[in-house]
Amino acid sequence: MKKGIRVYTENKNKRKVTMITAYDYSSARIVAESGIDSILVGDSLGNVVMGYETTVPVTMEDMIHHGAAVVRGAGDTMVVVDMPFMSYQGSVYDAVMNAGRIMKETGCTAVKLEGGVEYADRIQAIVQAGIPVCAHIGLTPQSVNQMGYKVQGTDEATAKKLLEDAHAVEKAGAFAVVLECVPERLAKLVTESLHITTIGIGAGVYTDGQVLVFHDMLNYNGNTPAKFVKQFADVHSVILGALQEYKNEVENSEYPSKEYKYGIKDEVLDKIYSN
Ligand code: KIV
Repeated sequence: MKKGIRVYTENKNKRKVTMITAYDYSSARIVAESGIDSILVGDSLGNVVMGYETTVPVTMEDMIHHGAAVVRGAGDTMVVVDMPFMSYQGSVYDAVMNAGRIMKETGCTAVKLEGGVEYADRIQAIVQAGIPVCAHIGLTPQSVNQMGYKVQGTDEATAKKLLEDAHAVEKAGAFAVVLECVPERLAKLVTESLHITTIGIGAGVYTDGQVLVFHDMLNYNGNTPAKFVKQFADVHSVILGALQEYKNEVENSEYPSKEYKYGIKDEVLDKIYSN
């Protein structure tokens, strides 16, 4: 049984909560072992796993395929799966049916969708159907073609809009809200004015928790990360070094050496040669 959304509903003002993305069975197992509170199967898989420029092309099938693999590796760690672009924007009906499909076919505990005031009715209907929803406001990558990838809420109008969005998703029943790329002091204000948990990414230290993309924080892809990403490890150079060593050892007949080989008795081999 997964731990469930209580980690978010019970820890506000008690301790910081942690979330990290994962997209496959093996990485989900490592995350679960680390004790991180929850796994997000982000539609960022479009960028870091599938090589798309944006998250826009990601499909329901992609999310379900990866979501189910993550749930299989996650043990009792809670898994949240992103609703991909156009799986909820069209109508409340689409939103509920697609959220239900994601939950039924992956075994996840909750879904996440992007947008504030304008999608509060979707959040309310999904929650009413028994599916916990994590909201996502500020920079919402599915709207990249409208907003670009830039810090949100830096002027009075957009800062007020962020607060309105935060209150709308709370009222609609979201159990938590991701704040992406917003100034630290605005994220603090939002966090203090909500009862639900805020999870920051590029939103400073005052949110109730943090989320990062697995590949970014481990430097898996070897890309230059966004300003807010701390690279806690350099997996790219570890993997690259190992692959180059493997190539060299194979080319020089150093691998496989003695300890990696199977033996056969001389008399067996002699009989085969003599036949
Ligand atoms: O898709 C994703 O990885 C996300 C995080 C950036 C919060 O939505």
